[in-house]
Amino acid sequence: NSDYLIAPSILSADFARLGEEVDSVLAAGADIVHFDVMDNHYVPNLTIGPMVCKALRKHGVTAPIDVHLMVSPVDQLIGDFADAGASFITFHPDASTHVDRSLQMIRDAGCKAGLVLNPHVGLDDLTYVMDKLDMILLMSVNPGFGGQSFIPSTLTKLREARALIDASGLNIRLEVDGGVTPTNIAEIAAAGADTFVAGSAIFGQDDYAAVIAEMRSALAG
Ligand code: DX5
Ligand code: ZN
Repeated sequence: NSDYLIAPSILSADFARLGEEVDSVLAAGADIVHFDVMDNHYVPNLTIGPMVCKALRKHGVTAPIDVHLMVSPVDQLIGDFADAGASFITFHPDASTHVDRSLQMIRDAGCKAGLVLNPHVGLDDLTYVMDKLDMILLMSVNPGFGGQSFIPSTLTKLREARALIDASGLNIRLEVDGGVTPTNIAEIAAAGADTFVAGSAIFGQDDYAAVIAEMRSALAG
C-alpha cells in the first residue's frame, strides 16, 4: 500500500508557534494535518476552533486539514470549519443526534466526511451510512489528551473495519488515532489502517523528519 498518510496531531505542537510547527512537520514529510477540536463537554479538555484553522490557511498551509471534532453538539461547527478551510471533518456518532444529517451537512459544505469510534464502540453505527463516509477513524485511546498508550483491542476492530470497507467497494480511508509510534505503526498497518495520526510521537522529538522517516520505513516493511 503506497497510499499511506501520516497525519501529525497538532495537539502536541507548540501552540505559541503553531504556523511554524505546521510548516516544519509538512516539510518533514507529513501528508495531512490532524486538527483536534475539544469542547470541555464531550471530552474533558478544551482546544482550538475554526478561527485557528482559518489562521493556518491564511498562514499558507495548503495540505489537507483533518478536523477531528470532539464536541457535542456537532452541526453548528460544520459550516464554520468548512468556511475555515477544513478538508476532512470527522465526528463521534454519540455526539450527534442525527448522524446521517450531520454527515450529509459535511459533504454539502464541500468537505470529506467521517465517523470516529471510541475504543469501546462497535462498528454498528456505520452500517447504514457507509455511502456517506469518506473516512472511518478508530480511536486507539480514549479521546481528550495526547501522549496515551495504544489500546491493543483496536487491532481487532481495525481488521473488522478493513473487511467492512473492502466488502463495500467504497473509497473510505481507515484512520487510527492515539498512541501510534514508529514501533507499533507496522502492525497497525497490517491490521488495515491506511492513515496514521501521531501527536506526541512526532512533536515530542526534535527531529520531525527523522520520526516520519522511521514511520515510513516501518510501513515499507
Ligand atoms: C486524542 C486526540 C489525538 C491525540 C493523539 O483525543 O484525538 O489526536 O493528539 O496524540 P498521541 O499521538 O500522542 O496519542
Ligand atoms: Zn484526534
